[in-house]
This record gives sequence, C-alpha cells and structure tokens, in this order.
Amino acid sequence: MIPRHKIDEILAAVSIEEVVGEYVNLKRSGRQLRALSPFANEKTPSFYVVPEKQIFKDFSSGKGGNAVSFLMEHEHFTYPEALRYLAKKYNIEIEEEEYTSEQKEAENERESLYIVTKFAEDYFKDQLHDTDEGKSVGLSYYKQRGFTNETIETFSLGYSPNKWEEFVTASKEKGYNQEYLLKTGLIKKSPKKEDHYYDGFKGRVIFPIHNLSGRPIGFGARTLLTDKKVPKYLNSPESPIYNKSNILYGIYQAKGEIIKNDNCYMVEGYTDVISFHQSGIKNVVASSGTSLTPGQIKLVKRYSQNITVLYDGDEAGIKASFRGVNLILEEGMNVKMVIFPDGEDPDSFARSHEPEELAEYVKSNAKDFIVTKTEILLKGAGNDPILKAGLIKDIVESIAKIPDAIARSVYVKECSTLLDIEEETLFSELAKIRKTAIQKNARKQDYDNYEAPLQVAEKPKSYEAFESNVESQEKDLLRILINFGDKNISITQETEGDEESEEIIEVGVAPYILHELANDDMQMSSDVHNQFLNEIVEMVTEDNWNIGRIVNHEKPEISGLAAELVTSKYELAKWDLRNIRVSQEDTKLKRAVDGALYSFKSKMVAVLIVNNRTMIKAAQDSDDYEQVLTLLKKQTKLDEIKASLSKPTGRIILS
Ligand code: CTP
Ligand code: MN
Repeated sequence: MIPRHKIDEILAAVSIEEVVGEYVNLKRSGRQLRALSPFANEKTPSFYVVPEKQIFKDFSSGKGGNAVSFLMEHEHFTYPEALRYLAKKYNIEIEEEEYTSEQKEAENERESLYIVTKFAEDYFKDQLHDTDEGKSVGLSYYKQRGFTNETIETFSLGYSPNKWEEFVTASKEKGYNQEYLLKTGLIKKSPKKEDHYYDGFKGRVIFPIHNLSGRPIGFGARTLLTDKKVPKYLNSPESPIYNKSNILYGIYQAKGEIIKNDNCYMVEGYTDVISFHQSGIKNVVASSGTSLTPGQIKLVKRYSQNITVLYDGDEAGIKASFRGVNLILEEGMNVKMVIFPDGEDPDSFARSHEPEELAEYVKSNAKDFIVTKTEILLKGAGNDPILKAGLIKDIVESIAKIPDAIARSVYVKECSTLLDIEEETLFSELAKIRKTAIQKNARKQDYDNYEAPLQVAEKPKSYEAFESNVESQEKDLLRILINFGDKNISITQETEGDEESEEIIEVGVAPYILHELANDDMQMSSDVHNQFLNEIVEMVTEDNWNIGRIVNHEKPEISGLAAELVTSKYELAKWDLRNIRVSQEDTKLKRAVDGALYSFKSKMVAVLIVNNRTMIKAAQDSDDYEQVLTLLKKQTKLDEIKASLSKPTGRIILS
C-alpha cells in the first residue's frame, strides 16, 4: 500500500511530457504536444499531450489519461507499479521509510523465499546438465518428449536426483535457512527420524514456475515412473511468494507475445505450454491442472481482452471446464475455444504435426465459446425436453455473465436460432438471472455510499438493450460538468411566496445539474459514470473545485474518461488553429447545460419507463402485488417527469 499523501506527492512531482517523452517523440504544437500514436499504426499524428492539464489523449485508439494511466497502458503496469516507477524517476522514497517493522519482516521473508527458490532453480539446472544421472535420466526424458536445448533453456527446466538428501546437503552447505526451505516444499521433514530432512522433489524432472518478472516462485515436479501409485506431479505449496490463484504457468515467457497477438491461448499443463512454444505459438499459458481463478484471468486481461481455451477431445473434461470459462466472460473478455481430435491433447497434437499445421488447426478451429457450448450441450440433450430446459438455463447463465448489453443481445439472437427458441423467452430468462445477480452484488457496489449528500434513485435494475443509448447523453453531461462545473449561469426562478413574479439568479453549473438530477431521482446507467458523478458531488459539497482528483483518479476507467472529456477533438482543433482556448460553449453555456440535461433526462426517462413496464409485467407474472404497487407509483412519477420535460426549462425551484 502506498499511502495517499505519497501518491499526492508523486503526482505533484510528475510532468507528463517528461514521462511520455521517454517513449514517444513529442513535437510542440501550440499549447499541446503531438506525436504518432504509440498505441496504433498511423501516418498522421493523433496523439496529444496537454501539459497544462497533465493529460494525454490518443484519438486513434481512444485511450487517454494522466501520466499514471499512460504507463499502465504502455508498460502494462498495475497502478502501484506505475506509481513506484514514477517515484523512482522523481527520486521520491516510498518503501524504506513507509514500512512498519512487521511489513519489513514480511518483506525480508519474501526476499529470503525468492533467494532459496532461485538457488533451487539453479541447482536443478546444474543437476540436469552437469551430472551423469541428470544427463542420462532427466535430459534424455526431455529429449524423448521432443524438447530442444533452446526450449529447455527458455523454461529453465531441471532435474532433481533420485537420492534422499542431495538437495538437503547442498543447501545446508550454502547455509540456507531450513525454515525457508520447508516453506517452499524444497525439503521435507522425515516422519520417522527426529531432525531429519529429505529432498522434496527426489527423482523428478523439474518445471520452474516464474512470476511476471521472471523470478522462480515454485516448481512442478514430474515423476518418470509409470507406477500409478506414485503421484505424477508434485507441486510446490502456496507460500508468501507463490499464490497459485494469481499466477499462470508460462506467463513470463508469453506476455510479450500475448500483447503482440492480442490473444492468449489457455491450456492445461506444463508440457502443453512448452510444446506450443516450441512449435512457434508462444502466447500460451496454463492453469497447471487446477481450475481457472479470477486472479489468473485478470492477469491475462492486463495484456489482452481475448482468450482462446484449448481442450483435448474428452467431452467430460470440456463440460467440467465450462464453469471456469464463465469467469472469463464475467471479466468482459472474449472467449473462443478450440477442441482437439479425440485422444489428442495440445501437447501431443503439437508434437505430431508440423508448426504450420498446428497454426492452421488452432486458427480454423477457434470457435466462439457460447455458440460452441450451445452446440455441445444440444448434442448431449437430444430431444429430451427436461435436459433441453436445463441447458437453456445453463447457456443463458453464461450469457448473463457478459457485462456488455449489446454483446448479450447478440448472443441471445444467435442462441435463439441454435436452440430454436423465441428470443423473448431467452431475454426474460436472462433478465431474471441478471436481476438476482445484480441484487446479490448490490452491496459490493461502490455507488452504495452515493446517497449522501444528495438523494439519488436506486440504480435501474436492467437496461439490456437500452443501456448504450443513454451513454452519449451521459457523457455530454459529464463533459459539461468537468469543463464548466465551476462556472456560473443565470436561471429564472419564482420569487418566494409570489407565483406571479420571477427573478434571475446566478447558480453554479455543477450544483445546478446535480440538483436537477437529484430532483428527478436520476442516476447514470454505468458504475463508471456514477463514480465520476460522485466525485463531482464531493467537490461541490466540499466546495473545493479541483478536477485533478478526477483526472488523476486511481481507477484508470475514471481518469481515462476524464481525459477524454476534457480534450474533445473539437477543442484541440481550435487550440491548434489559434493557439488559444476558444470556448464556444462558454458563451452559450446556459443553453448547452439545459440542452444536455434535457437530452439526458428524456432518454433516461424513456429507458426507465420501458424498464419499469417490464418489471411490472414480471411482478404481475409472479403475483407479487406489493411490488406491482410500488412499481406503479414509480411509473406515475416517471410519467410526471416525462410530461414536465415538454415544458420550458428553468421550472425547478431552487431553495
Ligand atoms: N497435473 C498435476 N498433477 C497431476 C497430474 C496432472 O498437477 N497428478 C497437471 C500438470 O500441470 C500437468 C497437467 O495437469 O501439466 C496435465 O496433465 P498430464 O497431461 O497428465 O501431464 P503430462 O506431464 O503432460 O503427462 P503425459 O506425458 O502423460 O501427457
Ligand atoms: Mn499431457
């Protein structure tokens, strides 16, 4: 954890032109700097840095943000990694003085675990290459599997001799602490003899597991015996440096290729990764025999939005892994699957085919996950109506995981054809599942504390196809808020106690818009937009207008949106032209504010009305009359808002 005041200190020291300038050749052009986009191939520069606002905006890829988000995009750093990088660049100390003694101790322990693990990796490599047993047993096993010397080197493969205390002795000679060797599973305590230890991976070939920076953190150790009673693999235990659910085998060797190919192949085990890599498909990782975890998926997501899951032809195995794939969909990633012919796994297929054949096979057999899942389940269900009903639910459950509403409706359409079922039936099943899921998650959502200081309506439950429609209106409103929230506009209001006469008063743009939204119980449709709005609410309540808190927001979705909104293409073009900031909107601010409010409200009301009607119908169907009544009241309120929108603006009484 980097303390908040340190983050502020770092952000204050940073100059975005210096940070970006290390990667991109920036040329001054009026108030901003321009360059060819580092995120796209282009001939005309459309990448801008605006020093005045400490932001960048890339019009070809749509990316934008502050120095931190630039590093996160360009270097694929996490947020703390980017901050640490900047701290180093600007000579700001974080670690040493900020750590408590407990943290220091934990850090020392981690460092020691890294050191013994690295020692073990080197030891196993030496054993493989420099001993007779290593060469005749270990190396010949790898050769027989078809691994080249280069491959063995790339994956730092090793061998642990078939003797009880070789490693125990070697590590003792070097003076390594037993506690750390035990914690990493490299040595084990003898159950019979007091104070006796033996080698954890005796007589096995060794597959080291590396973290993102290439440091070994654990091992997979495969037996060479075919005896069914001997476990095929022994794996290092979890330790402070080896968290199994947050690492993937091969990610260190694959990450660059995942970025380049914008896709990641997911296989089952060590040998699949290695064989693929050797056959030229290097963007490949394995979950190493366990089922996929959200942490592993997020790891891939740092490099690409696309995952292709590779299966051997075993149907039971495929079905068992469907659940794991739902987690990938939930992350909003695109999932394809490739099924290998019966009896072949990725490793054996790669070995029995030429690299070109393998490349061609995975390319032409990569099918959309949901479509393929539907086809597989459909085949299994035949004409059995009960099985078919079950599979519909199963499929819709997968679709419901997808965060993007448009993608969901595309799948509903597609599956409706495949399953020969009305789209509407699928949509209503989908709405049911999502409603339960959203309610379950409601507590977790950040906008829970959005209530104070303004009363805001509950977030509409399901927008489905409408969601995307409101987005541009919401952005427009947010754009006005962030650019002009601290300006004033004049509005007309009734003189208190006298309905006949009106007076003109000055109000701030941000308080005015927030009041208007609160008055009609309106929130925005996405979490990001609501969090953005929440930051504005806090700036207004604290009476401290500082858009830096949004532009430098720790969540890249928010800082990115802020950057996008403060640099509309239109504005930049003007700066380019005259080198001064000409704001058309400033003079016509009142009209712009009312226009944006009007468009947002009318669209939102339309969405809410349709949504509410669906909910009323659902409540009627389930005989929940209390709910019907509540929803009908809401309907009346929405109709009122709709009617009031046709009246002239300025109707709200500010008090
Ligand atoms: N695995 C494991 N423990 C086991 C068996 C398998 O952790 N007892 C994991 C390993 O990550 C392994 C993957 O599952 O890489 C795939 O298993 P398998 O194909 O049986 O391993 P291979 O070493 O490829 O064996 P084979 O030569 O028989 O294909
Ligand atoms: Mn295998």
